[in-house]
Amino acid sequence: MSLLPFDDRDGWIWLNGEMLPWKEAKTHVLTNALHYGNAVFEGERAYNGKIFKSKEHSERLIRSAKILNMKIPFSAKQICQAKEELRLKNNLKNCYIRTLAFLRADKMGLDSDGIRTDMMIAAWEWPSYFSEEKREKGLNIRTEKYWRKPAPNTAPTASKAAGLYMVNTLVKTAATKAGFDDALMLDYKGQVAELSSANIFMVKNNKIYTPIPDCFLNGITRLTIIDIAKEKGYEVEETIILPEDLHNADEIFATGTAAEIAAIGKIDEHKYQVGSITRELRESYENLVRYN
Ligand SMILES: Cc1ncc(COP(=O)(O)O)c(C=O)c1O
Repeated sequence: MSLLPFDDRDGWIWLNGEMLPWKEAKTHVLTNALHYGNAVFEGERAYNGKIFKSKEHSERLIRSAKILNMKIPFSAKQICQAKEELRLKNNLKNCYIRTLAFLRADKMGLDSDGIRTDMMIAAWEWPSYFSEEKREKGLNIRTEKYWRKPAPNTAPTASKAAGLYMVNTLVKTAATKAGFDDALMLDYKGQVAELSSANIFMVKNNKIYTPIPDCFLNGITRLTIIDIAKEKGYEVEETIILPEDLHNADEIFATGTAAEIAAIGKIDEHKYQVGSITRELRESYENLVRYN
């Protein structure tokens, strides 16, 4: 991956309906989102020149904004068009696309009523979040001991809100510094929730289990994998998973736009094989995104 900082690259960025040279896409230091975290975003991927589940991502962005009382002045259809125009303008076939909507600097203070929303889209080449080798061997994960996913009435957990990622950033940074690939996060009740930016699945006796997304992101990849697995005849159960339930799993894997489908090889001292169901679902996902 290039080490160029993200504000010093070439290309085009879409900002509020306009295509701007990458380095000119700027915002003011008094932007509300910088002070109070009022921003929502999406991460998506295009494969072979087609953005995967673009409509679903645009709709989720609008839903996330609504939860924060932010009004995005574009429809899902317009957002999809803008993403596609930007992808073409940057001449990208396989890329990651980041959309962000954030409250402007219209006024200072916590009453956000009436503050306008800015929206930007950027795209760049970004291979899978975890290297091919890591995904093949299985990720090395540690359970986060301190930070938890918050209760739905203590944070807007149904929104893909930037503010929620403060804790995810702490957890991921600490895990990688300690030599792990990522952290497993528990929720406020001590139940298994997700990794710092991916959902989690467990396989036991050919049945697939995944936690109920009641206080963390219901990933679009997660929903895709549930559909694929059911189509293949697997039983999938969304259920409460306790950390100790993972100890006897046959296979564990993570799903997300950035991570795609990544096998987990180890959680704390427990080792897992990269099993046949993980491989089968990964292959189906790769075929779906590349040839849809
Ligand atoms: C915290 C978190 N959980 C799960 C996911 C997976 O979501 P998706 O499959 O929609 O990319 C992401 C990625 O966006 C995430 O940031």
